[in-house]
Amino acid sequence: MPSRYHDVYAEWKKDPEKFWAQAAQDIQWETPWDTVFDASKGVFGQWFAGASCNTCYNCIDRHVQGGRPGQTALIYDSPMTGAVRTYTYSELLAEVQALAQVMIDLGVTKGDRVIVYMPMIPEAVFAMLACARLGAVHSVVFGGFAARELATRIDDCQPKLILSASCGLEPGRVVAYKPLLDGAIELSAHKPDGCLILQREAAEATLIDGRDHDWAAQVGAAKSAGAEVPCCPVDATDPLYILYTSGTTGQPKGVVRDNGGHMVALKWTMSNIYGIEPGEVYWAASDVGWVVGHSYIVYAPLLHGCTTIVFEGKPVGTPDPGTFWRVINQHRVAALFTAPTAFRAIKKEDPDGAFIEKYDLSSLRTLFLAGERADPDTIQWAEEKLGVPVIDHWWQTETSWAIAANPVGLGMLPVKYGSPTVAMPGYDVQILDTAGHEVAAGEMGSIAVKLPLPPGNLPTLWNNDARFSDSYLSEFPGYYATADAGYMDEDGYLYIMARTDDIINVAGHRLSTGAMEEVLANHPDVAETAVIGIADKLKGQIPAGFIVLKSGVDRDNGEIEKEAVQLVREKIGPVAAFKTAITVPRLPKTRSGKILRGTMRAIADGVDYKMPATIDDPVILDEIGEALKARGFGG
Ligand code: COA
Ligand code: AMP
Repeated sequence: MPSRYHDVYAEWKKDPEKFWAQAAQDIQWETPWDTVFDASKGVFGQWFAGASCNTCYNCIDRHVQGGRPGQTALIYDSPMTGAVRTYTYSELLAEVQALAQVMIDLGVTKGDRVIVYMPMIPEAVFAMLACARLGAVHSVVFGGFAARELATRIDDCQPKLILSASCGLEPGRVVAYKPLLDGAIELSAHKPDGCLILQREAAEATLIDGRDHDWAAQVGAAKSAGAEVPCCPVDATDPLYILYTSGTTGQPKGVVRDNGGHMVALKWTMSNIYGIEPGEVYWAASDVGWVVGHSYIVYAPLLHGCTTIVFEGKPVGTPDPGTFWRVINQHRVAALFTAPTAFRAIKKEDPDGAFIEKYDLSSLRTLFLAGERADPDTIQWAEEKLGVPVIDHWWQTETSWAIAANPVGLGMLPVKYGSPTVAMPGYDVQILDTAGHEVAAGEMGSIAVKLPLPPGNLPTLWNNDARFSDSYLSEFPGYYATADAGYMDEDGYLYIMARTDDIINVAGHRLSTGAMEEVLANHPDVAETAVIGIADKLKGQIPAGFIVLKSGVDRDNGEIEKEAVQLVREKIGPVAAFKTAITVPRLPKTRSGKILRGTMRAIADGVDYKMPATIDDPVILDEIGEALKARGFGG
């Protein structure tokens, strides 16, 4: 069947408002919009201005009332604990209403912010949906972040309440959340009114009198009382959530998501990009702390009436590289979405796919990969071993859904390895040179999206229109700058090659080298520092930090390096995967004093580079090369 993609893209381009108004028919609105897109509102305009709606209603109540009350909405599968639990749409409604009632009792009202700092358990999803039900704005913080990162988010979004659990479970390690939470609240200037803590068996937390509340006791009581909490209508343009993502400094960016446009876009993607029918099982093996988790563990599958899976485990080691196949087999998964790094990890442990053969994967139609560049080797291995199409698609926390994809629901286009295929309707993607002019097909440039951004994309950063404009809209007037560089071929296929800022991608996690440098610079013996991302076969990139010691420091370098590694783990968190600090006598710089991080990266990756014309002292590059070689880097 020929793909409908080109027709649908042209239809969107001809009349974007008509296109999105039509897609919006699949959402139930409390009151309809005045204008599909109001260019006079917000920073660059707003979608579905004047409409009111409720995201939780569309995710749950609508299906309970509309013929799916007994269908499984959520499966919790935890190889970490051995638990498998299922919730029907009716049961999900009861859980969410009970939690919403507790939140009301703790003072949460429409517009209040609520931080969710939880592991991959169903209660994290209940928490997000309960916020949506009340019109409160959730901000989920990934469990791998340390206290200081949590504190920064507390100060920025000023939550009334924090929902957390006593611990998370990592292979061979229980991560006690409560000390991190207490530490964060101590560090932050803003103090929440209260914390609701879910006690887990692996590590019970000590609750603080007057501030902390016991989740099970309170929610249990609300459930027994048969709590019924109506959905609070919100403006389509009101925020549903804030999700912090790495910026170029230690201060993360609070990406804002609205309610209306987000629902319209995500619902559209389920049939058109993912080719999934309501009632099918859709599994995003990610974490609710990331945007993939927000969009494709929680909101999109539920908006579409699917069954979603909350998986508490890893692709390998929990207990073996067959875990993904066991889950697909057991729960009859139709589509799996994960990061390429997960497949690289599986391939490393089970190169012949022996574990794949142990399971019946006949339910699986498609594998979707995103979060980092999908290397052709990994794609081809997955295609061959699984026997299903493997779709690389490109998106960002800022967009909440794919900018470029191969739209399975519209009919697949031919696959070109190394390309996430073509721009989706909603996105006029252009490759620009530094002056903002479009470059020819095949030429590298900055990837930009012509404004307005489509529904689902961020309207602004939390309380910071100015930073939103500065970060994304000022480089190329009239465009959103993605901060990715790459090219488009003559068939319109995009190739995403590198970031244009100091963001690195470690195991599909987006991290700021600038933030790591800020931490290292605070070590008392460190005078100067530069952090780069070095290519890594498993994780895509790993960070390495060069440190120059203050003159007069007379301590063992190895000791200082160990302290530097520990400092990043303590301040940013284990997710930074920062394991390499290298002491060097000096850093390579331009004559104007700019550190040559790009050149250092090329040396570390063992790729050719041009000697920068403005370099101050080329000998320093040899010193860097030697230091890297001593640690096994440099090709
Ligand atoms: N809470 C606490 N710590 C966490 C955590 C969490 N939720 N998630 C990860 N960490 C810790 C890990 O335990 C590890 O700690 P360690 O240094 O003590 O070993 C550290 O953070 C780095 O984690 P990660 O980079 O994920 O590496 P890993 O070795 O634990 O696992 C993979 C490697 C490839 C198996 C793993 O990264 C993976 O499954 N990735 C999938 C990618 C993904 O889900 N991306 C989301 C976007 S789609
Ligand atoms: P995040 O906001 O964490 O989702 O990270 C977004 C960034 O990850 C993008 O700007 C890209 O640099 C990278 N990325 C995500 N998906 C892909 C992909 N399919 N191919 C290449 N890079 C990707």
